[in-house]
Amino acid sequence: MNTTRCDRTPSWAALQARFETSGRSFDLRPEFAADPLRFASFSQSAPHVFADLSKNLIDEATQALLLDLARESGLESHRDAMFAGAKINSTEQRAVMHWLLRNPPLALTDQGRADIKNVATELAQVHSTLDAMLAYAEAVRADADITDVVNIGIGGSDLGPQMAVLALDEFVTPGKRFHFVSNVDGHELAAVLKKVKVESTLFLIASKTFTTIETMTNAHSAKAWFEAQGGTHIARHFAALTTNVAAANNFGISTTFGFWDWVGGRYSVWSAIGLPLAIAIGAPGFRAFLAGAHDMDEHFRTAPLAQNLPVRLGLLDVWYRNFHGFTSRSVAPYHCALKRYPAYLQQLEMESNGKRVDASGEALPFSTSPVVWGEPGTNGQHAYFQMLHQGTDVVPVEFVAVKKPLHSLPGHHTLLLANVLAQAQALMLGKADAGGHKHFTGNRPSTFLLLDELTPTSLGALIALQEHRVFVSGSLWGINSFDQWGVELGKVLAKDVEARLLSGDTAGLDGSTAGLLARLQA
Ligand code: F6P
Repeated sequence: MNTTRCDRTPSWAALQARFETSGRSFDLRPEFAADPLRFASFSQSAPHVFADLSKNLIDEATQALLLDLARESGLESHRDAMFAGAKINSTEQRAVMHWLLRNPPLALTDQGRADIKNVATELAQVHSTLDAMLAYAEAVRADADITDVVNIGIGGSDLGPQMAVLALDEFVTPGKRFHFVSNVDGHELAAVLKKVKVESTLFLIASKTFTTIETMTNAHSAKAWFEAQGGTHIARHFAALTTNVAAANNFGISTTFGFWDWVGGRYSVWSAIGLPLAIAIGAPGFRAFLAGAHDMDEHFRTAPLAQNLPVRLGLLDVWYRNFHGFTSRSVAPYHCALKRYPAYLQQLEMESNGKRVDASGEALPFSTSPVVWGEPGTNGQHAYFQMLHQGTDVVPVEFVAVKKPLHSLPGHHTLLLANVLAQAQALMLGKADAGGHKHFTGNRPSTFLLLDELTPTSLGALIALQEHRVFVSGSLWGINSFDQWGVELGKVLAKDVEARLLSGDTAGLDGSTAGLLARLQA
């Protein structure tokens, strides 16, 4: 692998110069007026997703420089190393192979791919685990006595399956309810336990490490509740989804589905962590979800950079963050079933790329992950879109819309589509003929992602697209997008504070923590 941090390439300096001469003053409106082909030049199809990038603050010359930046940074070599199973998660000495979870079996894989042979053993394990997990999912689906599935997990062991089960609600089997418990706040588990019955509930304990304190606390409480209600058949009512099968067995769970250390938590919905989704939409649905993602993997792996959608999105992210200095990106799915999509993307991007040192540990002289945030439209329009249109900061917006709805209520979808198009239009066009409070500067960038329908296949492709765009910016920035040391300090301190809450000992604490602790104990 041959990579160079983006700021050490010749194109970085060229982009800085470009930004000063025409980037800062770039205006979308004259660009559209001067170029009737702008939409065609800056839009493209990728598997299951159409993307209109034309309302972004770039022109052909800037895009060409960004593509040079990608080449000079060694993006292709880094990407190929990931797809060859190299240990690119350098701080943990692990390969990064969530993509392998959606790869067809070796016999069905393009035999021209020499690199896949490096990971043939892992691929065989992936498929035997997948087959076992899907057979179990089908058995649970067929079991009319199980009416409630409670997933206990946090972070990647919660957000992926939760986001996907909600998103694919139209495909969820009738007769089963799905609950997601992540927070250590007992209100969450207590509320779910009030609704379910021992004999009809399946608890899935989802934890890559099987050590995460929130998940273990909730799992112990769920098991205690189960036993207190007279439940005895743990093997039928509890299953564990984990890389640490031994710890699950020690906990008393014998039904386990494993995965591997080369699957990062926030990339794990494709593994056994996806079991709630598999139960919800069935084995064919889950396979379609994997297939959609695999189609996007192939696009990312093989399409030329200039027509590679994850690459183009990742390069825009770098352009906005490092040259325009935009600090956040708002995601606006115009589909109410995508309500957890913003939260899912927050973990994906901010846990992956929220780093201040490069892979060698050297402090970075430029900014990395933007803040990613949002809500489904049209709700966001009546909340924070005021700031997007007239606030002092420019926030690029990434819309997602679907062509065909899965309901038949007349009029709604046309109205929804009218709103998403109008918002993108308003951000760009602004309103110059009014002054003061009624003035809109316009020229605010947005990307428009369009799916035909929200199905298991298109959702899989959309999520894989997002994974790879995060890879692209992380790769150019020279950071390790696959570790998360930043979550450790809080965990260690929480242990100490928990002991102090029990003992009342405030010795050596900072004044604020000591003051709050004393107040909590009074
Ligand atoms: O927040 C840190 C983290 O390790 C995430 O990366 C992960 O998704 C989450 O905790 C849960 O971890 P586990 O699946 O091991 O319980």
